[in-house]
Amino acid sequence: MDDRHFYQPAQGHGLPHDPFNAIVGPRPIGWISSHSAAGVLNLAPYSFFNAFNYTPPLIGFASIGRKDTLRNIEETGEFVWNLATRPLAEAMNASCAPAPPEVNEFDLAGLATAPSRIVGVPRVAASPVSFECKCSQIIRLQGASGDVTDTWLVMGEVVGVHIARALLRDGVYDTAASQTILRAGGPADYFEISADTLFRMRRPDYP
Ligand SMILES: Cc1cc2nc3c(=O)[nH]c(=O)nc-3n(C[C@H](O)[C@H](O)[C@H](O)COP(=O)(O)O)c2cc1C
Repeated sequence: MDDRHFYQPAQGHGLPHDPFNAIVGPRPIGWISSHSAAGVLNLAPYSFFNAFNYTPPLIGFASIGRKDTLRNIEETGEFVWNLATRPLAEAMNASCAPAPPEVNEFDLAGLATAPSRIVGVPRVAASPVSFECKCSQIIRLQGASGDVTDTWLVMGEVVGVHIARALLRDGVYDTAASQTILRAGGPADYFEISADTLFRMRRPDYP
């Protein structure tokens, strides 16, 4: 018997749980605040999220289906990314409730807002790091055949960065101290970043 389980996703994975996002994991969490054109605040986590460029700094997340966050950003062109940390994990999770658009998930999760400086969308006050973002692109994703999906990639340029000074050690951002949480697979798995899993490796010179 082959020592590899092989499957073609279009035909099913043949396993008790889809391994896809357990394999591509743990993933950083895009905890996104936004508001509608009418000013209704919104907060939701997106783990199909990452950073894509240094200059200008670009981040993006995928909305699987047309969710409130996507619609808000289409309306206002702005959003804020907030770092999800272990002390904020339960609040982050509470903010993913499929609440109707008129519900403010800051209230639902018991979170206070803090004003941003450049965009009109507030930050999660208790989050130690936030990126103020202006939407740069919204791309409807398609498969290899060109068939469109029901997923939209929302890209934003980071135009303002807030960092809790406690996370700056001699001016260097201390990732391990941030207690950042990451989404793994299954219905409930997460990891927390900690100093004991840190290792260092420099890029090789060539030749
Ligand atoms: C950790 C975590 C990660 C999530 N990642 C995504 C994601 O990448 N894309 C997505 O569409 N929904 C994701 N969800 C579900 C959304 O947060 C959920 O549908 C939410 O209600 C959307 O809120 P909104 O309609 O206010 O934008 C995730 C939920 C959790 C708890």
